[in-house]
Parts: sequence; C-alpha cells; structure tokens
Amino acid sequence: MKLGIFDSGLGGLMIAEAINRHLDAVDTVYLGDTLHLPYGNRSEDTIYECTRAAMEFLLGAQDCRLVIVACNTASAAALRRLQQEWLPVHYPERRILGVVVPTLEAALERGARYIGLIGTNYIVRSEIYPQELRKINPAIRFEQQATPLLVPLIEHEGTPWLDSVLAHYLAPLLAQKIETLILGCTHYVCLKETIRTQTGLDVISQDEIIPLKLEDYLRRHPEIDRDLDREGRRDFYVTDLTDNYVKSAQYIYGAPIDIRRAVL
Ligand code: DGL
Repeated sequence: MKLGIFDSGLGGLMIAEAINRHLDAVDTVYLGDTLHLPYGNRSEDTIYECTRAAMEFLLGAQDCRLVIVACNTASAAALRRLQQEWLPVHYPERRILGVVVPTLEAALERGARYIGLIGTNYIVRSEIYPQELRKINPAIRFEQQATPLLVPLIEHEGTPWLDSVLAHYLAPLLAQKIETLILGCTHYVCLKETIRTQTGLDVISQDEIIPLKLEDYLRRHPEIDRDLDREGRRDFYVTDLTDNYVKSAQYIYGAPIDIRRAVL
C-alpha cells in the first residue's frame, strides 16, 4: 500500500519532495486539487467536500494506507470531521494525518516563546493554530497575519512582486517583536530562505519538519509502517492539468515528474 500526500494545489509538492527524499523507499502518491485551488478563500463546507473527495481518491482508487493532508487550510477545515465521522465508516483501518499540531510541536521543541504565523485567510479566521497552541502550552504568545496574495503569486509566476508583498505582510508581526515565524501554508516553503535572510527570525518551514514527524509516527505505528510498499514508486496527480501546471509542477518539485489528471 502507498502513502498519500494531499494539497490544494502544487505547493504541497515541496512537502512531497521532502518526504520522498527522507523516506526514499516508501511508495507515495501525490494529489493536488488544482481544480479548486485556492482553498484559502472558500467556505468550510466547500473545503470539507473537496478534501473528502480527495481522500476517497487516495484511500479508495489509490489504496493508500495513510494520507498526510499537507494543506494547512484543509487540515483546519476538514481533518477532525474526516477523522471522527467519515473515516470510521468508510475506511476504519486507514489513517489521515494533518500538519497543524506537528508544526506547533516542532516550534515548541525548538524553544519558541513568541510565535508569529502567516497563512491563508481561512487558516487565520479558523483560529486553529492559537486554539491548538493553547492546548499544548497556554503560556506561549502568538500573533497571526493572513497573507492571501502569496499563493496566487507563487502559483502564477509572480516572483517579481513577492518581496514587496511579503514586506507589507510581515511588518505588523515584526513590529510585535515575534521571535519564531510559522509558515502556515504549503506554498510558503519556497519563501523560507528569503524570510530567514530578511528577518533573522527562526522560521518553521513544514518541509523540514513533516518528514521527521512522519518518520516518528511510523516508528510508533509499526502496523502501518509494515503495510507500506517500498519500491520507491512516485505517482503525481492533479485535478486539473494544463501545460502551465506541468511546467510549474516540475519547477516546484525540483525534478522532472510525470503528472497525470485525476477525476474525483
Ligand atoms: N495549500 C494551502 C495551505 O497549506 C494554501 C493554498 C490554498 O489557498 O489553497 O494552506
């Protein structure tokens, strides 16, 4: 069986690449819901429905044992409901994991005391990060900033405008004197070095933590680990495929990949 990796679009390819590099033998299948991107401006019900359809594809048609919802927005809007209501009825033996709690744990393991976060409108509005943080350690200070222009700029070759947009978005967080910055969106992985250089903050980037957290999870769940096929096979699917997506996918993943269209 395979390990599934899901994102609303192509940004999760940077998480997939890091997972594939770290667990190099494990067979993985990636699904990006390019047909419905961006999730960050959509309603909870829509994000839930899109994510549920993606899980059906990955767990059903692709026979995944475990799926990582790499998308922060989908993790916030759909994960709990999928885990508690949908999975036990449809695939009781399979597992779906998100990225919010592992990201906060990684920040705290690094000694974060005053955390800032950038993410989509949905992530910020959902308050999922401050809520989960309060459960782990209510003494940690936290600020967040919605950065809705970043995903369209990253997905559509908007690099020349990124610096000024980023500076505008980061200014209020820097004024608060945060020490740690969580990049709360798959797409922002490609901004990590720029932000590190420009701000000097301790930047938490999910490509650097999710593979390690996943490895740890598999160590603690040998019954799942042993079901994963290990032939180094990689499959990539998107729900809408254009020449532009093919080009962007290779660029974002950093290597030639064969990407196919999935009909959900
Ligand atoms: N991939 C999503 C996330 O990690 C953001 C992109 C979107 O708005 O769909 O939050």
